[in-house]
Amino acid sequence: MTDRIKVLIVDDIPETRDHLTKLLGFESDIDVVGAAASGAEAIQMAVALGPDVVLMDINMPDMDGIATTEQLAVKCPAAAVVMMSVQGEADYLRRSMLAGAREFLVKPFSSDELTGSIRQVWTRERDKQSRIVAPAAAAAGATAGTAYAAPGTVVAVFSPKGGVGRTTIAVNLAVAAASLGGRRVALMDASFQFGDVGVLLNLNPKNKSIADLTSQLETGELEELDSYMIEHSSGVRVLLAPSSPEQAELITAMHARRVVERLRAEHDLVVVDCPSSFNDATLASSTRRT
Ligand SMILES: Nc1ncnc2c1ncn2[C@@H]1O[C@H](COP(=O)(O)OP(=O)(O)O)[C@@H](O)[C@H]1O
Ligand SMILES: [Mg+2]
Repeated sequence: MTDRIKVLIVDDIPETRDHLTKLLGFESDIDVVGAAASGAEAIQMAVALGPDVVLMDINMPDMDGIATTEQLAVKCPAAAVVMMSVQGEADYLRRSMLAGAREFLVKPFSSDELTGSIRQVWTRERDKQSRIVAPAAAAAGATAGTAYAAPGTVVAVFSPKGGVGRTTIAVNLAVAAASLGGRRVALMDASFQFGDVGVLLNLNPKNKSIADLTSQLETGELEELDSYMIEHSSGVRVLLAPSSPEQAELITAMHARRVVERLRAEHDLVVVDCPSSFNDATLASSTRRT
């Protein structure tokens, strides 16, 4: 990944675009990736080029800089807009900020003011992004951009009360972690009696649940665990709870622990959806043996 700041210039006046391009061309840490002559072109180019910073003229025919900024916030949210205007009135400033601009430069500005603003906005934005990404990556057992350390992390989602959103959180956490890419994510439904992970993910296979593994679990051989897991379209590999409540009794704490340990060894993240009661199997699924 390069640390150069990718800048897109948006101004309807060709001389201004050329002038800004030349000015920024002297900066070793800034790359002008494109120059758009209108709001519509700016959106197209921003989507295609993924700039870090967009230098936006406020006064343009057709779509002005404020309307363009509003659309960019939806279509290219990672791009930070620096608004440029000959008018410095509070109303312009307020409307620009409401539209999502991060900085406001009143023309004429010096080249130092321009580059200073670009760098400041970029640094702020990068810090913000890293704070957003870091918790998700940490939950998935990795820091951004680095590989997982083996064995994987176990995240058990528990609450002593039912209906508070455990399954919703567990399922969404697993799917979100899988969608970050490059991670092996398992989801285990440990609500052995009334598990509903299959319902949420629309999975309803026959004879594919932890209950079907009990004979192997007794002997400790878990060679076939893989074939009892279902791959969801998100990439999450799911081990469902038994399809009928009475089968829950077959699963002991030792079984639950063996399954979690095995899943941990083969995945970067193991999310466990726990029931609302403490029993031996829940404790075994959600605590780590040291
Ligand atoms: N953040 C939320 N806001 C509103 N409803 C929610 C939220 N999280 C879950 N729900 C709803 O609450 C109900 C119970 O959620 P569920 O995840 O099954 O809870 P639990 O697993 O703790 O029993 C479901 O109908 C679910 O759609
Ligand atoms: Mg639940």
